[in-house]
Amino acid sequence: MTRRRATLLALAAVAVTAAATVLADESALDQKVRTFLEKHRGDWRDMNVPWVDGQILHDLVVKNGHKRALEIGTSTGHSSVWIAWALSRTGGKLTTIEIDPSRHAQAVRNFEQAGVAALIDAKLADAHELVKQLSGPFDFVFSDADKGWYLQYFKDLDPKLEAGGCFTAHNVLRSGGGGAAEFLEYVKRLPNYRTTVETGSGEGISVSCKTSR
Ligand SMILES: C[S@@+](CC[C@H](N)C(=O)[O-])C[C@H]1O[C@@H](n2cnc3c(N)ncnc32)[C@H](O)[C@@H]1O
Repeated sequence: MTRRRATLLALAAVAVTAAATVLADESALDQKVRTFLEKHRGDWRDMNVPWVDGQILHDLVVKNGHKRALEIGTSTGHSSVWIAWALSRTGGKLTTIEIDPSRHAQAVRNFEQAGVAALIDAKLADAHELVKQLSGPFDFVFSDADKGWYLQYFKDLDPKLEAGGCFTAHNVLRSGGGGAAEFLEYVKRLPNYRTTVETGSGEGISVSCKTSR
């Protein structure tokens, strides 16, 4: 065998080993998150999104390749785990905000157990204040805290949302949704957003994607 051929074979072997390692790492994380989600499927008691809505958020992030995500209303972290799992595929990170200390602490434990802690910056804060202070930019937002503030969260984040980014909000189909309906009517009228509603569990997730600045 010539020296050149031996070098090429050695390089190919290194590339194959590296690719195999990456695949092994990915499937190990996928397995860990899936196992966590399946094990705790019936355990979520803190106003967490139902499974099907978590799946919708995950698929949306993967489909659009979002990378800079913000969640308002962590609770104990069910939706965060779904979003972070998607971000593990797109190479992104999630910032999530919760005002309640015990839910925040439980969420942090859940992120460790699910294997997604390194992908999440979990903030214990009042989102009314923190959302105004965050510099962004974001390309994905999931709004799931106090419905009466949905419109204000949107107004605060619109300048920080990139074109091509999507602002999503939970419970927009809930009757007596305490401000979610007002928010939905507002975003539907914006000429530079395209808004659709995913029915999912029946609670409704609005998806408003920014077409231009
Ligand atoms: C519907 S739950 C979120 C569920 C979570 N997204 C999930 O699926 O696991 C709403 C959460 O928003 C939190 N929240 C309400 N007002 C808030 C505020 N001003 N700042 C931060 N969090 C707030 C509540 O404490 C509650 O845990």
